[in-house]
Amino acid sequence: MKLWGGRFTANTDKAVDDFHSSIRFDSRMYRQDIAGSIAHAEMLGRIGVIPAAEAELICSTLKEILSDIENGKVQFEVEAEDIHMNIEKILIERIGDIGKKLHTGRSRNDQVALDLRMYLKDETSEIRAMLLELLDVLLDISEKNKDTIMPGYTHLQRAQPITLAHHMMAYFQMFRRDVGRLDDCRARMDVMPLGSGALAGTTYPLDRSFVAEKLGFSAITENSLDGVSDRDFAIELASCLSIVMMHLSRFCEELILWSSAEFSFIEMDDAYSTGSSIMPQKKNPDVAELIRGKTGRVYGSLVALLTMMKSLPLAYNKDMQEDKEAIFDAVDTVKACLPVFAKMLSTMKIKKENMYRAASGGFTNATDVADYLVKKGVPFRSAHEIVGKMVLYCIDNNKALDELTMEEFKAFSPKIEDDIYRAISLESCVSGRKLPGGPAPESVRASIENAKKVR
Ligand code: ARG
Repeated sequence: MKLWGGRFTANTDKAVDDFHSSIRFDSRMYRQDIAGSIAHAEMLGRIGVIPAAEAELICSTLKEILSDIENGKVQFEVEAEDIHMNIEKILIERIGDIGKKLHTGRSRNDQVALDLRMYLKDETSEIRAMLLELLDVLLDISEKNKDTIMPGYTHLQRAQPITLAHHMMAYFQMFRRDVGRLDDCRARMDVMPLGSGALAGTTYPLDRSFVAEKLGFSAITENSLDGVSDRDFAIELASCLSIVMMHLSRFCEELILWSSAEFSFIEMDDAYSTGSSIMPQKKNPDVAELIRGKTGRVYGSLVALLTMMKSLPLAYNKDMQEDKEAIFDAVDTVKACLPVFAKMLSTMKIKKENMYRAASGGFTNATDVADYLVKKGVPFRSAHEIVGKMVLYCIDNNKALDELTMEEFKAFSPKIEDDIYRAISLESCVSGRKLPGGPAPESVRASIENAKKVR
């Protein structure tokens, strides 16, 4: 007999049991479910809705059930539908009528809202910690590469010289914002819905604040309809996680490119690459590719959640059971990606000479030649045009700008003098860009110091 079976005269079809059961994926919330029930029972005992001794028995039995689950002694049943009813059923099997009092003043609607919030709060904290580990790796690489010159790109065309530290610190900023987003999201998740009942609260004088405090929530929900039907917190988390994955995917894409023979800026450690079953020479950056690929499933979860919630009338609807697989998969995926990514990054070999060589080609100092002319009194637009012509000449003569002779320089502008060579060296190009936020080693050092403070 189902826990809700009183109104029914026939059993549910077996196929329906299978179809609407969520135990297969919501059993992972057993800890939160039991903690929530213990807090609820204790509160019922304190306010005298059930005798204190019975509340105690319920709590101690729930603790036993918890340890039995953790020791693999409990078999959940599809017929009991979800984690909430599975645990309640076991409780009733163990202590009979007293166990039947646990659900007083509560509904599975506020119960599931509670469990999911608790579960995702914990996961959010774990993901936050993983992001901090990644931030540390980025700081470490940056500290060591403030002078490692490489080309900066726009349109994937060599643009201006920067340093590897500057490039890494760009990702630091992105992942640091991700941490901030998770913190904001967690704060909105941190609101306790129990007491919302099925939708309209309850007539029992429940002490909601006691339950909230007991379970480590900062606040209680302000509206019972909203308390049971809000899934913004899961959508918001999926959105934060999608942004994390978007950042990872950009980074992975770059690492994949940089691992190619064409770039050859880095080499992945053997432990983070794989070979080919047919081509003996291959060393593939699979880990980075797989993370890039997994971005899609996290976006998919976000879209699934948004679409599931779209147009749902207040308050709870069974559609909402579909929230769990989507958000759990997003959480699992990010948790699988972050540590392996951080490790891969910290073990990769950086080929500084190749980065430098790439920065020396592609006329990355062309802007600096124009700036040189501006300093000698040429208007910027004219300087731009003169340097454009120089670049054409260099391409035809297979030279870099800093390989032009003084005679050749003079042919483009009589204002050019010997100091041009120093002015347009890659080192000068980088060290001259010393505004706050720029690639000059001194600017990057300052931004690393700031980063350590917020980290
Ligand atoms: N397993 C359900 C879910 O995840 C729990 C809430 C069920 N409530 C209900 N009225 N059917 O949404």
